Amino acid sequence: TWTMVNIADEAVAAVRAQVGDGRLICGLSGGVDSAVAAAVVHRAVGDALTCVFVDHGLLRAGEAEQVERDFVASTGVELVHVKAADRFAAALAGVCEPEQKRKIIGREFIRVFEEAARELEARAEAEGATIEHLVQGTLYPDVIESGSPTAAKIKSHHNVGGLPDDLQFGLVEPLRTLFKDEVRRLGEELGLPEEIVWRQPFPGPGLAVRIIGEVTPERLEIVRAADAVVREEIRRAGLDREIWQVFAVLLGDVRSVGVQGDERTYGHPVVLRAVTSEDAMTADWARLPYDLLERISNRIVNEVAQVNRVVYDITSKPPGTIEWE
Ligand code: XMP
Repeated sequence: TWTMVNIADEAVAAVRAQVGDGRLICGLSGGVDSAVAAAVVHRAVGDALTCVFVDHGLLRAGEAEQVERDFVASTGVELVHVKAADRFAAALAGVCEPEQKRKIIGREFIRVFEEAARELEARAEAEGATIEHLVQGTLYPDVIESGSPTAAKIKSHHNVGGLPDDLQFGLVEPLRTLFKDEVRRLGEELGLPEEIVWRQPFPGPGLAVRIIGEVTPERLEIVRAADAVVREEIRRAGLDREIWQVFAVLLGDVRSVGVQGDERTYGHPVVLRAVTSEDAMTADWARLPYDLLERISNRIVNEVAQVNRVVYDITSKPPGTIEWE
């Protein structure tokens, strides 16, 4: 019979059949796919796998800790945590254009990952081993999409594909035949924490594309705080699995006048974005209850300094995209 246990066993067996004695590395993004891919491979090869988590400083509140603590605790995987927030912040200084942000983040990401890979390779060599494979969390829809030359390119997505020629790894893609819901069940089967398995999709460039205008450390703090409020209230309302994605966008270059206490304020608006979707190709704005919208709005303007206005995005995709950039 078809059960998830069979899928887990099969995926593990397939990895064992593919890889020999060499070591493997896997880049963790904090997302579901790379976490489940790493968990499958870890079950197959144990200590031969090292995971590299590039922390670009553009993650949501608590995410880096979740990878470092919960993922490691549930899998026992060896993790190298590269803290590179300063480097990404410097590279992004003065940059406002969305695709420029993506290009810079993609480029820095590959550089940082490459440095970590070279260090691990040197370490492996000292132990008389070599790194033979790179693990990636490619899903079936990614395989289909990248094979379709007619798919219009609206936004450039990045992942760790473009490593230099002298770092030659074979690819291990244990999720290549699976859809997202199967990946989630596989993750549960492998004992990954619910917060990782049921995490909503989050773009690789992270909060950088959720700040309209320049990305600065102050703005990151603002959007991160607003986003934490949004996610907490959605979770409390029991809606986090029903909503495909919900998040805050900071209009960093816009200011509006408000009044709080007896004081005139001149702060930034935050956009609340919540959509339902099957596959992110199309999406509908979520009909969130008014009282929930009110709670989110009140909490953000009261708890997040510099934000004096919250607006709700009622645009579907198309014509809007899910993200604002
Ligand atoms: P859009 O905004 O194009 O997003 O409707 C569709 C889905 O893709 C995610 N997204 C990204 N994911 N790198 C990623 O890895 C990116 O640059 C990127 N841009 C958008 C978005 O969150 C949604 O799930």
